[in-house]
Amino acid sequence: MHVPTTFIIGNWKMNTTLDEAQALLSELSAASSSVQVGIAPPMPWVVPLRQALPEPGIWIGAQQAVPTATGAFSGDVSVSMISPYVDFVLIGHSEQRLYHPAPQGTFAQTVQTLLTEGKTAVLCVGENQEVRDAGRARDHVGAQLEDGIPDTIGDGIGRLIVAYEPVWAIGTSRAASADDAEEMAGFIHDWCTGRFGRSVPVLYGGSATEDNALEFLTQTHVSGLLVGSASLHADRFNRIVAAAEVAIGH
Ligand code: PGA
Repeated sequence: MHVPTTFIIGNWKMNTTLDEAQALLSELSAASSSVQVGIAPPMPWVVPLRQALPEPGIWIGAQQAVPTATGAFSGDVSVSMISPYVDFVLIGHSEQRLYHPAPQGTFAQTVQTLLTEGKTAVLCVGENQEVRDAGRARDHVGAQLEDGIPDTIGDGIGRLIVAYEPVWAIGTSRAASADDAEEMAGFIHDWCTGRFGRSVPVLYGGSATEDNALEFLTQTHVSGLLVGSASLHADRFNRIVAAAEVAIGH
């Protein structure tokens, strides 16, 4: 099996009607086997999009899930409920951390549950402006890695992806510089290698667009992009995927 080297994942957040979601998905272009394209639609569209998937090479994911399988958790969706329909789940996106804070250790449990089910876990980390200004960005991201990656991960680490998304760059049109993204991706790489003896793909996210994609994707430790608003436009998202193909040929 060819292992992709670059991941371009669209996070549609709480956007699209079902008709719009189906139309958008049908317009996404296929990538080469080196570039894995994925989309995380709103939860109710996951199953119909999976069933209508025009391009089997595209991953479908959920924007969040909880590790407990069943129970009295109104409003939640568990990993075991959604996993038959997804390839990956985003864990700890900053909007989840802000609006639905989870008890410490929950993300590590979600990662472990997903990996045990053979799925890919995309753990999102990133500091806010205040933390960055205080010079504590690395400490903050290190603590999020500590909290989100289970010690027991073992070989499952082969299906873990970390997305570095500085909160101040998300939805602001103020992307991090490629140097900042590379610096933190290098830190995450070293952190994982130091802890587990191997690294994981690190994506950058935060106002990633078709115009800045190539710059991020040609950084040594950046293995892809997590794209929010630009992923809601097929032409823009396809251009980001095209940039990934160019970066690989770099
Ligand atoms: P953005 O969102 O690209 O709209 O900044 C990224 C994200 O939140 O994943």
